[in-house]
Amino acid sequence: MAQGKLITMDEFTIMETRKFPQATGELSSLLRDIGLAGKIINKQVRKAGLVDILGKHGATNVQGEEQMKLDIYANETLINILKNSTDCAGIASEENDNHVCYEDTYSANSKYVVLFDPLDGSSNIDVNAPIGTIFAIYRRVSELGQPCTEADFLQPGNKLMAAGYIIYGSSTMMVYATKLGVNGFTLEPSIGEFCLSHPDMKCPENGKIYSLNQGNTVKYDAGMKAYLEYCMESKKDEGRPYSHRYIGSMVADMHRTLLKGGIFIYPGDKGAPKGKLRLQYECNPMAFIIEAAGGIAVSGAQDILDIEPTELHQRTPIFIGSKNMVNRAMEIMKQTEPAI
Ligand code: AHG
Ligand code: MN
Ligand code: MN
Repeated sequence: MAQGKLITMDEFTIMETRKFPQATGELSSLLRDIGLAGKIINKQVRKAGLVDILGKHGATNVQGEEQMKLDIYANETLINILKNSTDCAGIASEENDNHVCYEDTYSANSKYVVLFDPLDGSSNIDVNAPIGTIFAIYRRVSELGQPCTEADFLQPGNKLMAAGYIIYGSSTMMVYATKLGVNGFTLEPSIGEFCLSHPDMKCPENGKIYSLNQGNTVKYDAGMKAYLEYCMESKKDEGRPYSHRYIGSMVADMHRTLLKGGIFIYPGDKGAPKGKLRLQYECNPMAFIIEAAGGIAVSGAQDILDIEPTELHQRTPIFIGSKNMVNRAMEIMKQTEPAI
């Protein structure tokens, strides 16, 4: 990239699309619409600390508008922008029980559906730590011209066309992946555009950071405990003990993992064998991104992207990040006891 030359996300996406003569530009315009939703959510996130001054959630502000919780605001923003988009047949959201079909003629003829976690890491809003939005785009399997169906949203991750996240951190970034690779764009607030800042992102094959809620150790099985012992063991020539970092926003923990390498884990345990994180809104999009960047993502029993979803809100354990670290974790856990 020439120094000083700004490439906006739109420009970049269109250049990428031109590599495929048969492409219609619909995916580019869908990514732009998601970016627009991200900018609107970002504006509200930046005011989060002022809520008590400007009006509490559930209260009415000076314009007579109802103040919304940020996760509901983010959800409604995405739903409305994608409804107005001409390139989205319907959505499924972590915040909605069922998928939503857009039934106007344009939407019914759109070939894509979008799944999202509108606000990830919502418990971090009050402490001013990074939060994010995660999205996943599938080509629908139902008939064009008809309303979309639940089957469009129950496709395995290996069928994803694109996935990404927006991180509302010390700066705001949008990162998205296609089969061509992963690229990151930082929001330039003065022009309101996401600009290419992290071209062709690669997850290092090795890392020195493990990331999980270690406070749950008492609930973990023997295999998981054995891997934690391994992470904390002193082996200077192998870079151990590893450092432990856990923000509690998957987007933020995964952004670090993508840039610096490492392993992020949300395991199952005896009480919750499938863990906490949602396959369709959190694990599949992150697995698609990390694999497009050279990393891997597994549930313990199989690749995340190969899981055939049976319900919209299903959960899965996840081990994701640097290839060699995830493989090593699996070896150690399998030596100790069968995978979950
Ligand atoms: P959400 O805010 O969308 O409900 O997601 C929170 C998730 C995820 O971001 C994070 O990795 C995990 O919950 C943290 O869970 P624990 O507090 O159990 O560690
Ligand atoms: Mn989440
Ligand atoms: Mn959420």
